[in-house]
Amino acid sequence: MNNPHSNQSDDSFLCAQEVTRVFRIGKRELPILKGVDLTLGRGEIAVLAGPSGAGKSTLLHILGGLDLPTSGRVFLDGEDVFRLGRRQRARLRSEKVGFVFQFFHLLPEFKAWENVIMPRRIRAAGSGLTGRLRDEAARLLDLVGMTGRMEHYPSQLSGGEQQRVAVARSLANDPGLILADEPTGNLDTRSGGELLDLFGKLHSQTGKTLLLVSHDKQVADWSPRVIHIRDGLIEETG
Ligand SMILES: Nc1ncnc2c1ncn2[C@@H]1O[C@H](COP(=O)(O)OP(=O)(O)OP(=O)(O)O)[C@@H](O)[C@H]1O
Ligand SMILES: [Mg+2]
Repeated sequence: MNNPHSNQSDDSFLCAQEVTRVFRIGKRELPILKGVDLTLGRGEIAVLAGPSGAGKSTLLHILGGLDLPTSGRVFLDGEDVFRLGRRQRARLRSEKVGFVFQFFHLLPEFKAWENVIMPRRIRAAGSGLTGRLRDEAARLLDLVGMTGRMEHYPSQLSGGEQQRVAVARSLANDPGLILADEPTGNLDTRSGGELLDLFGKLHSQTGKTLLLVSHDKQVADWSPRVIHIRDGLIEETG
């Protein structure tokens, strides 16, 4: 019998097998990922490091089901992500994955609390639950240390504060996995350190699986596991 989960250990939350990604520019083919194997246990923290252009963001997008691999498989909480159709994959992504980006990607015309519950509004569209969603946004903003900033627009917040709002938003659907692409890349050392403290606190309180892409030594030093990507392949150290 062909069991799609047969190669996956039970305690893994994320498992990539032989993932490749080739970009085509005109007639040229650019192989960026050349057979990435990577497993993250449920509740594990890891940093993905490597030189600029190594394919870190490309891999993160594939792991989160935002981009398609050229070949290979990704299992997310036991589901074979790229066997699913587009809609089912979008559903899986919104249930299981929260994303945090270097440039925050908050919507400027919405207040902090509205940004936080945006992923929920999309799922609960038309259900008239705004009061409950506002309470939920308040709880998440408390969790990230942003009590009292509900009504602020992104332009009225510091970079570190905007990133906290983005972290709160990543938690809106209570996903098991947070993927963060250079989350400290736009922050000074102090705000970056505070953001890491926040990820540490969230991890100990919620047991979520965290994968952070970063060049930042501060982030690598903080993480119990560092995964390097070089020449399209994974190298593990320490
Ligand atoms: N859509 C695309 N089309 C063609 N080439 C692409 C595309 N996306 C990425 N690339 C190429 O793939 C390589 C890896 O890009 P990627 O953004 O994953 O790097 P990265 O490791 O995240 O780098 P950085 O640390 O600078 O963010 C780069 O050489 C880039 O030019
Ligand atoms: Mg990148």
